[in-house]
Amino acid sequence: MKYLAILLSGRGSNFVAIADSIDAGRIRDARISAVISNKPDAAGIATARQRGLNALVIPSKGKTREQHDHAVVAALKENRVDLICLAGYMRLLSPWFVQQYPHKILNIHPSLLPAFPGLEAQEQAFAYGVKVTGCTVHFVDEELDHGPIIVQRSCQVLETDNERTLAARILEQEHIAYTEAVNLILSGNFEIVGRRFCKKN
Ligand code: GRF
Repeated sequence: MKYLAILLSGRGSNFVAIADSIDAGRIRDARISAVISNKPDAAGIATARQRGLNALVIPSKGKTREQHDHAVVAALKENRVDLICLAGYMRLLSPWFVQQYPHKILNIHPSLLPAFPGLEAQEQAFAYGVKVTGCTVHFVDEELDHGPIIVQRSCQVLETDNERTLAARILEQEHIAYTEAVNLILSGNFEIVGRRFCKKN
């Protein structure tokens, strides 16, 4: 059995996609041991409670990054955690946090990295006028939206799109991509060569 921790700050649809995949057997032999939010009012944390999961709020407000990260890592260490999935967690992790869990922290970003890192990636892509965009699941390293790429899924930008419809179409791909990435990592059947994530046969 492998144990996942989810870190979120908001809606939590990627968390729900992972939880649904576990419940439906698309991700096997895994459990969510903790869902942690830095925002008390995150919808994702209410959903985690409704699902009977271990839902923790560790407010970031009024704390330095280091203080908050120490509190989050302490909570993680109280639980079994094999993999940490950032799912709309609107905080940069300190280098210290990242170093506690080498190659054990994943993030999902709503663009085809390295295009459009940072906030509002879908709006950035729409405004830039790209014809194809998508999402990326990657390892978290010390730089923003930067670590080795595990899975990318693309989608077309349609003539009829606006920022909202495009973001919704990317989100559908995100939900598929996160399950794919979690399965790849939990299989342990990969190596990282430089920046390249390579599946082993
Ligand atoms: C997603 O678009 C994700 O890629 C980004 O933040 C958003 C979170 O959405 N990092 P949700 O909370 O998972 O619904």
